[in-house]
Amino acid sequence: MATVIDLAPSILSANFAQLGADAKAALEGGGTVLHLDVMDGHFVPNLTIGPPVVASLRKTIPDVAFDCHLMIENADEFIPAFAEAGANWISVHQEACVHLDRTLHLIESHGCKPGVVINPATPVHMLDDVLEIVHHVLVMSVNPGFGAQHFIPNSLKKGETLARIRESRGLEFRIEIDGGVALDTVGDIVRAGAEILVAGNAVFSHGDIRENARKLLQAARSAAAAAAKASPRLRRTTTAPRSSKSDRHRRQT
Ligand code: DX5
Ligand code: ZN
Repeated sequence: MATVIDLAPSILSANFAQLGADAKAALEGGGTVLHLDVMDGHFVPNLTIGPPVVASLRKTIPDVAFDCHLMIENADEFIPAFAEAGANWISVHQEACVHLDRTLHLIESHGCKPGVVINPATPVHMLDDVLEIVHHVLVMSVNPGFGAQHFIPNSLKKGETLARIRESRGLEFRIEIDGGVALDTVGDIVRAGAEILVAGNAVFSHGDIRENARKLLQAARSAAAAAAKASPRLRRTTTAPRSSKSDRHRRQT
């Protein structure tokens, strides 16, 4: 079975005056997970949304995994509220968590899938001791804080390194890339081993949201299929998040 590719539209680039409608359009077009960027104005130089917005979206979108990317300093204080609001996956930055192992276990204890994020300047080996306990590793391919930035190619090497480590250690975490994912970068990103593709600008900022999502997912899945054909080593069996019932509700795989 080929690698399962997920498209996670990032609402950061949506029109916040019609957030529910924009998010639904992206999911109808091809988004399989909804990516929600939480920024505190301290860890990153921008402010975005908190648990009430997640809870409102959850009411209108009951059946898709919510991937909450916390770019905040004191994550432990807010994890219970995001879980309560309807988050399914919660990721925290390695750079922002003094007690990372504890924070990841805290996420799990609230019934969510824990993820860890690294900035462009953070090497993969900083994650060596948490890879066993995470559901996903999110590689930032821009410096966090804003949408519509240029893709940083160094992140491709990180995807490859993570895929190698996962194979050699027999681990199961998924690899997610965030920042600058678009039609012209998605092929390289998938070939580097990423399976969850976050895209804000490419989905929401121009043209038709449904069509943008559809084309991006199609491009990613074609690249993954071609890569698997060329190198059977790239084939991987993972659970398909969209089809599993548990992934459509609060407690997700
Ligand atoms: C940036 C955010 C991203 C952002 C991606 O800090 O984490 O999720 O929305 O933006 P694009 O896809 O516009 O590069
Ligand atoms: Zn993000």
